[in-house]
Amino acid sequence: MPNFWKKINKPILALAPMAGYTDSAFRQICKYYGADVVYSEMASATALNFKGKKTLELLKFKKAERYYIVQLFGNDPKYFKNAAQVVSEKIKPDGIDINMGCPVKKVFSNGSGAALMLNPERAREIIKQTLIGTDLPVSIKIRSKVNKTTAYKFVKKIKDLKIVAIMIHGRSMKQGFSGKIDYSQIKKVKSLYRKAGAEEDKKLKATLANVAFNFLSSSAPIIIANGGINTPEDAIKMIKKTGADGVGIARGALTKPWLFAQTKEFLRRGEYKKFGLSEIKKAALKHAKMSSKNNGKHGIIEMRKYLLWYFRGFEGAKEIRKDLVRVESVGDIERVLERI
Ligand SMILES: Cc1cc2nc3c(=O)[nH]c(=O)nc-3n(C[C@H](O)[C@H](O)[C@H](O)COP(=O)(O)O)c2cc1C
Repeated sequence: MPNFWKKINKPILALAPMAGYTDSAFRQICKYYGADVVYSEMASATALNFKGKKTLELLKFKKAERYYIVQLFGNDPKYFKNAAQVVSEKIKPDGIDINMGCPVKKVFSNGSGAALMLNPERAREIIKQTLIGTDLPVSIKIRSKVNKTTAYKFVKKIKDLKIVAIMIHGRSMKQGFSGKIDYSQIKKVKSLYRKAGAEEDKKLKATLANVAFNFLSSSAPIIIANGGINTPEDAIKMIKKTGADGVGIARGALTKPWLFAQTKEFLRRGEYKKFGLSEIKKAALKHAKMSSKNNGKHGIIEMRKYLLWYFRGFEGAKEIRKDLVRVESVGDIERVLERI
């Protein structure tokens, strides 16, 4: 399967995975505003191993969302092979990602997510089984640090495997979702591959001739830097400080899915158009229509939480928000927004 990552102009702008948020309609609105790659919400490899219908339903996508990556989480290598196979056959995304950065207790205490950075042997096996299960490009998402294991130390241990991209959240597990970004770890991982260079490629090619499975990496993975990007300036700073090939944007896209377009404009001409309330209203309605088209009334119920991200911090927002959490149709949303 061709590696789509290599086809995208750099810097690559990705919508990072968010459980409960990066559903099909939200991915569509981010794509509409210029995201190059969008990730699904994390999906359980265990559930998919048993062909979980509900999970498969949640992972469905529209053509307009391409390039679309399904992210898997779990702790058991044997389930990843089947999960990757099922996702490849039934969903047909552009890539499969493995969550190795989630700090949430329910996930971590189970040996999944960020716990995999503490268990490189298991992490390796999970990557290998995923590669056996699919021909799609496989990527991983990690943190800058989990306990004493840095991203650099961890990546060194899995570097020979055929990973096409690594998204690094520049915060340690202890930091969770706030605090300063550790640019240096992302830079170190990027330079790890830069150093590898052509000599290593040659060596790997020779090794490849002797292995049963095409596990080994023959070229450097794309490095995507993530964490704290809320403006185009943040995105550029991240790239300059880390040398990464692109950025992953999570919560910044929840308040402003147009951040992708603004960042591209900023890169092109050194400035960008700010969005006022009337543009935000238009964007929110567009998103609501996508959500309604996907899921009818349920899509609008789902839409309520996004509306709360869009409409905050202006005079009268409190009253509007009270009504936005009760909307049941696109018409209802239109009527509430008319009052702004
Ligand atoms: C509500 C929420 C859900 C998230 N779900 C996932 C997930 O399913 N998989 C994952 O790898 N990271 C998940 N993350 C982490 C984000 O992808 C990202 O790494 C983190 O929020 C830092 O980026 P930001 O500062 O741009 O928000 C989630 C974050 C949030 C806030």
